[in-house]
Amino acid sequence: MAQQNGQSLQRVRQVFRYEEQLRANAQFLEENPDMKVRLRLMFLYGRVNGRGTVLYLNWSRAADYLLEICTEAIKLRGVCNLALSGGKTPEALFRALARQCILQPTTDWQHIHLFWSDERYVPHDDPRSNFALAYEAWLREAPIPRENLHPMPTRYANPEDAARAYEAELRAHFGDADEYPMFDIVLLGMGNDGHIASLFPGDPVLEETERWVVPSRAPAEPRQRLTLTLPVLKANHLWFLVAGESKAPLIEQLFAGTIDPTLPVAMLGEELTWLWWLSEELFARAFPYTRLWWR
Ligand code: 6PG
Repeated sequence: MAQQNGQSLQRVRQVFRYEEQLRANAQFLEENPDMKVRLRLMFLYGRVNGRGTVLYLNWSRAADYLLEICTEAIKLRGVCNLALSGGKTPEALFRALARQCILQPTTDWQHIHLFWSDERYVPHDDPRSNFALAYEAWLREAPIPRENLHPMPTRYANPEDAARAYEAELRAHFGDADEYPMFDIVLLGMGNDGHIASLFPGDPVLEETERWVVPSRAPAEPRQRLTLTLPVLKANHLWFLVAGESKAPLIEQLFAGTIDPTLPVAMLGEELTWLWWLSEELFARAFPYTRLWWR
């Protein structure tokens, strides 16, 4: 009899613990409405893997949810800070966001600040510039104040000076309280060699642990780059936008857990809340290694 009482008491305590946890979770979501948006996106459309949540790359859905998270962040903190990625893939997202600027004029565009996760060391009007990509596809016509655009500077003779200037700009904007600048979302692409931002395989800057921004070297032109460092990326909410058949083998190795751990994309580690927006061919390769959140 005593044993039964003991077991039922334990069950009651367990229920109270769950009740308490549920109340704590509900309170957290009330205090962080942007997390409600993220969780809805992950549970409605995502499939989980240790590396994060895999989503089918739908540009208008990505743009809609990105803006919903921005809107909630602005309600919560008065500002939304995004770090944009480069390369070719994000152009479709920028064009979807440009459409939203017209369709959703009520969005608090003036409270959105845009930064970059990396940049090619070329003038901002050079077609190879990541800033130029976003400007032509979205920002030229967007109702975002020009002072809210924070491109990585490429006018310094020495890229080292540019990196330090950008880090100073980040510290001025985010303050020094946190160990790293906490963006609402950092967009990233992935190269078919496993690079992310402008962190390329074998580059010594992959070992950087203190600085937020460093010069780096790419294997292809334009070789000189600037990039956020690995610790900054790991500390943030990451959205990967990855498309292209050439990346399929690496995506499969990444989600199967067989990837070379020295590749930058693997060095990021694991974070369930990171989102991997994958194009059709890449989604199919990751799918077998994922499961629904509630299974
Ligand atoms: C860059 C990018 C880089 C890019 C990948 C994927 O400056 O090139 O930041 O990290 O995201 O190379 O590029 P694509 O989208 O063109 O495949």
